[in-house]
Amino acid sequence: MVEFTFLSQETLRPLAALSVREDQTGFVATNLMTMAQSIFEAGSEIYGIWDGGEAVGLIAIIDMSHPDADLDDEDDPDGVYIWRLMVDQSRQGQGYGKAALEFAKSVALEKGRANLVISVVDAPGSALPLYQSFGLVPTGRLVDGEVELIMRLV
Ligand SMILES: CC(C)(COP(=O)(O)OP(=O)(O)OC[C@H]1O[C@@H](n2cnc3c(N)ncnc32)[C@H](O)[C@@H]1OP(=O)(O)O)[C@@H](O)C(=O)NCCC(=O)NCCS
Repeated sequence: MVEFTFLSQETLRPLAALSVREDQTGFVATNLMTMAQSIFEAGSEIYGIWDGGEAVGLIAIIDMSHPDADLDDEDDPDGVYIWRLMVDQSRQGQGYGKAALEFAKSVALEKGRANLVISVVDAPGSALPLYQSFGLVPTGRLVDGEVELIMRLV
């Protein structure tokens, strides 16, 4: 069964040990980098993706309504932003990525946020088709060179 648990001292090492394929390294930061950056990223929350007691991936979100969240003028604070998502190279293609998107959506709904937001590199092999098939829709905005997508929850 797939489980999502908040990052803890015990889960730091197994999550840090996960990695994507060499040709995917341009799509997502390493998990260690995400953990370090989260110290400075107001509203960030990191979750491990687990199956049968084994770490399989990581998803990190930012609650954009956090008073110190780093938003630009066009960002709607009433959202949850999927900041990082990765599934270990040995576990991809088994539904964990989709389950993680469902999890992020449930977190956003629990928090009462109106939008689920993500941005992604538009390049061959990126997760853009996955996000669109999940129901995230391009806003037309490019954020730091990445395509922004949104799902309205209310
Ligand atoms: C993107 C990623 C998280 C998806 O995780 P996953 O567990 O492999 O995805 P799933 O098995 O849940 O796939 C769900 C569906 O999306 C499709 N899909 C997954 N990744 C895809 C990709 N990169 N391109 C096209 N389709 C993709 C799958 O074929 C599957 O389709 P199906 O439901 O019709 O069978 C994983 O491939 C990954 O870690 N990639 C490298 C890092 C990355 O790109 N992260 C995203 C940064 S924005």
